[in-house]
Amino acid sequence: MTQHTRRGWTMAQRREVTDAVNRSPAVSGPLPWRLRFVDGAVEVVRGDWDDESSGNGLGRDRLVSCGAAVATLELALRREGLRFSMQLDPDHGSEVLARVEINGELPASAGERELYAAIYLRHSHRQPFSPLPVDHDLCERIIARHGVTDTQVLRIAEPALGAIARLLTYAAGAVRSDTAYQRDLAAWTMPAVRSELDTLPWALVRTTTHLPDQPTLEQRLREQTTLLVITEDDARVDHLRAGIAMQRVWLAAVANGLAASVHTQSLYLPEVRAGLVEQLGLAGYPHLLMRLGYPA
Ligand SMILES: Cc1cc2nc3c(=O)[nH]c(=O)nc-3n(C[C@H](O)[C@H](O)[C@H](O)COP(=O)(O)O)c2cc1C
Repeated sequence: MTQHTRRGWTMAQRREVTDAVNRSPAVSGPLPWRLRFVDGAVEVVRGDWDDESSGNGLGRDRLVSCGAAVATLELALRREGLRFSMQLDPDHGSEVLARVEINGELPASAGERELYAAIYLRHSHRQPFSPLPVDHDLCERIIARHGVTDTQVLRIAEPALGAIARLLTYAAGAVRSDTAYQRDLAAWTMPAVRSELDTLPWALVRTTTHLPDQPTLEQRLREQTTLLVITEDDARVDHLRAGIAMQRVWLAAVANGLAASVHTQSLYLPEVRAGLVEQLGLAGYPHLLMRLGYPA
């Protein structure tokens, strides 16, 4: 544990906390957050982008990513042995998305240290999983770790898998032929990542992606655990909440030997989001699908 005083942050603390936070999952493009260390607090500040209010999928995803950064920040501060209170969207609409105020010290628990370690083990697992199913109780325990107000993490089971397969198949076809979107995607994604993604329809659909037919996709969904993160409302604070829930669940999964990846690309299409709400009878707004399993 490094020393923190209310007057400021040591260079080592800034570096350790920033390094951990910048390992958070983020939508393609430059990191959508910055950290601002001020006296007795750390702020998660919006990066240099302005499509948040347009309500499009990318603006939403950037806020979800910033929410993930908030969840990582909390763990990094606990690892420093700091107690704090956290406020989302504290100034209602300013560039500050979250403010974490330090109000004491408390050594990190063994569980918190495990979750902290998971920050560095987590990555987007886009490869197939091992056939070993994820135990139902374990999945429920992991889901229960999110603890975010007005947010639910749902496990998608039969018969909803058919509806998901239908909507993903429709979205994949639409996204693959959207030339403007494909141009942006090509610019954002590093060539090293590209070849891995090209083969996997669950990940990012490109012009070259081979799309499985709907029954094949449905079968694949049956062989993995699929979660859906929804929030009661669809405002800035809800997108941040969805990101916090996503990262908490993801890190808890990794700490339990699982791997995961998330998919939002299909939800950029308003008709797919609306289709999820209608066909799954959701009591809220869907933000992302997460697949979980044991790495093969
Ligand atoms: C809000 C959000 C949306 C994402 N959407 C997708 C997606 O649709 N498809 C995909 O393959 N990865 C998606 N990702 C994963 C990012 O591409 C990934 O987190 C980033 O490239 C960093 O890699 P890492 O997760 O391995 O650290 C998403 C991540 C976030 C936070």
